[in-house]
Amino acid sequence: MHLIALCAVASAIVVGVHGQTQYTATNAASVAAARATARTLSPTSYVKGKTFDRVVQIWLENTDFDMAQGDPSLQSIAKKGITLTNYESVTHPSQPNYIASVGGQTHWVIWDLFSRISKSTKTIVDLLDAKGVSWSEYQEDMPYSGFQGDFVNQQNGKNDYVRKHNPLISYDSVSSDLDRLAKIKNFTMFDRDLKANKLPQWMFITPNMTNDGHDSSITVAGAWAKGFIEPLLQNSNFMNNTLLILTFDEAENYFARNRVMTVLLGDAIPASLQGTTNDTEYNHYSILKTVENNWNLGDLGENDKKATAFW
Ligand SMILES: *[C@@H]1O[C@H](CO)[C@@H](O)[C@H](O)[C@H]1NC(C)=O
Ligand SMILES: *[C@@H]1O[C@H](CO)[C@@H](O)[C@H](O)[C@H]1NC(C)=O
Ligand SMILES: *[C@@H]1O[C@H](CO)[C@@H](O)[C@H](O)[C@H]1NC(C)=O
Ligand SMILES: *[C@@H]1O[C@H](CO)[C@@H](O)[C@H](O)[C@H]1NC(C)=O
Repeated sequence: MHLIALCAVASAIVVGVHGQTQYTATNAASVAAARATARTLSPTSYVKGKTFDRVVQIWLENTDFDMAQGDPSLQSIAKKGITLTNYESVTHPSQPNYIASVGGQTHWVIWDLFSRISKSTKTIVDLLDAKGVSWSEYQEDMPYSGFQGDFVNQQNGKNDYVRKHNPLISYDSVSSDLDRLAKIKNFTMFDRDLKANKLPQWMFITPNMTNDGHDSSITVAGAWAKGFIEPLLQNSNFMNNTLLILTFDEAENYFARNRVMTVLLGDAIPASLQGTTNDTEYNHYSILKTVENNWNLGDLGENDKKATAFW
């Protein structure tokens, strides 16, 4: 907890330092100006996959496996999918886990502070782009597409959208490319893309700092997840041979095994496996490897290469 608090304070200082740069635009006027011209893209594609045709990750925050498994909302979700009981996060604190989830390693990011990773460093979106598999991120309460700072709730000043929970934004290979930035979107755009049946094949979804449990509790995060996911499981614009992965960035306890609850959901999961558990050892890199296997993408040559895929 102390480590987390320290990082939060340090992070605020860094934002202060960058206050006049392109990275933050947190006052209402500059946000409105930038929003008016922000470029937004909603690409779609139908590249057939081996096991699924669409993959969606939703990441919650900082909860030990047992705490998560004890939550009634998550129990309700677990009945609809496969719970992975031996799934580990990569490290502590939050940010390196998100970074690793798309890059195959933490790239020496050991903290939650503002970080940038060199332009030559590849991520999963390089592999997806090469095969024409469409992708987007959806980050709740990001004020406009491609925003690169942190954003607080304008009514009450609470943490809301944070860069450290956005896996792709710290990679210069993404942030220096306007077409890629235009696919880093918020939940307004998710609702719009869903309704218009313009969701991509690869998605990463981050709820805000309340809904993901970071600044609240597993009860709040579980209730949010149930309210968000259960309608999607019935929505044919979302479910089209879709794999939905609900996981946590890391466990809360820094001094125990970094085991987090992960549930595999969606119509790509056979009905016979709904409500079951699987005790194979997996970790965040397993998701990368599973996606790479599914569309024959090759690999990043990082920890994704040797990871155990789900299939
Ligand atoms: C979400 O992003 C879009 C596109 O940039 C923007 O028009 C919209 O105002 C944003 N929504 C919120 C709630 O900030
Ligand atoms: C997070 O999103 C919910 C809606 O999903 C909203 O009610 C809440 O105010 C947001 N939290 C913050 C801190 O902005
Ligand atoms: C579902 O996917 C197939 C291709 O796999 C596509 O042709 C079809 O239009 C999709 N359906 C919807 C509702 O998006
Ligand atoms: C679960 O367990 C078996 C091993 O018993 C494995 O082969 C299978 O692929 C597993 N994974 C999933 C996601 O079902």
